[in-house]
Order: sequence, then structure tokens, then C-alpha cells
Amino acid sequence: MKRLWILSLGACLLAVTSAVLAFEAATAEKSGQTAAAKEEEPKFIRTPDVIYVPTPYEVVEKMLEVAQVKKGDVVYDLGCGDGRIVVTAAKKYGVRAVGFDIDPERIKEARENVRKNGVEDLVRIEQKDIFTLDLSEATVVTLYLLPQLNVKLIPQLEKLKPGSRIVSHDFDMDGVIPDKVIHYKPKGQREHTIYLWTTPLKKEKN
Ligand SMILES: C[S@@+](CC[C@H](N)C(=O)[O-])C[C@H]1O[C@@H](n2cnc3c(N)ncnc32)[C@H](O)[C@@H]1O
Repeated sequence: MKRLWILSLGACLLAVTSAVLAFEAATAEKSGQTAAAKEEEPKFIRTPDVIYVPTPYEVVEKMLEVAQVKKGDVVYDLGCGDGRIVVTAAKKYGVRAVGFDIDPERIKEARENVRKNGVEDLVRIEQKDIFTLDLSEATVVTLYLLPQLNVKLIPQLEKLKPGSRIVSHDFDMDGVIPDKVIHYKPKGQREHTIYLWTTPLKKEKN
């Protein structure tokens, strides 16, 4: 009787273990497919509106500090280059971040950067034209573009939730009053300017 009971228990355990293993395999396959679908091979879309110049890491850190990034924020970098801003945001603050770029080379570099730093669970890199984006999910937007491109983004930035922060490296946004303008000179480097705006945007009166 005791032997029968032990045999039944063993069979039960075996069945439960197989079910768990089968579930894990199916989930892994599914998430693999999702990741693959998300990471479509980047292709040529059109010439970027501004060339790639990376923000020095010291300035990246300062931009995120000025934006007061905190747990729960979602950081978008519009024109993410090698992904250094979104990778730093995820590593330093543990926040979710999305980097967008139009240039296929930058997309490859940024994805490699994400993998190298092990932040795949927090950071996504998407090949998109930034002027087609819906920014409503973001609470922090970082920019290193050109003044006229910042201005072109205003209609999209106005759709951010109240209290969202926008930080721009070196370039202002004509017609919108910044909350802060910070001049920052890392050792041995030129002076960099960081602009901060908070939504709702404060427009200059004509
Ligand atoms: C000056 S770099 C800044 C890179 C990065 N944000 C940083 O600060 O290190 C500007 C980036 O914007 C990208 N870019 C230019 N026009 C774009 C567009 N319309 N949509 C998406 N990305 C664009 C370029 O490919 C380039 O990587």
C-alpha cells in the first residue's frame, strides 16, 4: 500500500515537472519571437536631418540629473545615436527607456550597446523617423538635434503628460521658455549647455 502511494506521488511530481518545463519552453519561444519581431533588421529610410555627434558621457549624466529622472519614468531619446542616453538611464536609474533613430548604422550600434550593458529588459531601440512618433508614453524626452528640429517637434512635445521633462543638449527651442539653462564644462572639454522644459510648455508671448 505504502509502495503504491509512493509510486503515485512520484507520477504526480513527474507530471507537474513536465508541465512546468513545457510551459517555460513555450514562454521562452514566444518571448524570443516577440524580441525578434521588435528588432527588425534596420534599413535605409531616408537621410537623417542631422549628423551623428555623440553627447559626452559626463553630459549625458548631467542631462538625466537635470531632468530629475526617477523610478517609474519612461525616457525617450529622439535621435539616439549609439544609445548611450537610454542605456545610462536604465543602468543608473533602473527606468524604462526607448531610443529612436532613423540611421540603420546607429540602430545596430545602439542595440549592441544595449546588449553589451545587459539592459535588454529595460531598453528598446526602434528605427523610426522622430517626427512620426507618438510621445504620450514618455515622461522624459532627451534631445541633441538642432534648434529648428526642436521647434518642429513642439506639436508632438505638447502631447506629453503634464510634469514631463524635456532636456536638450546645446540647442534651445525658439518660442518656448525653458525652466532652466545650465552651462556645464566637464574637465578638459568645451562648455556644454543643457536646456530644461517642463510640460505644459510655456510659450513666449509675441
Ligand atoms: C547629434 S546625434 C545625437 C545622438 C544621441 N542622442 C546623443 O546625444 O549622443 C543626432 C541623431 O539623430 C538622428 N536623426 C536625425 N534625424 C532623425 C530623424 N528624422 N529621425 C530619427 N533620428 C534622426 C541621427 O541619425 C543621429 O544619430
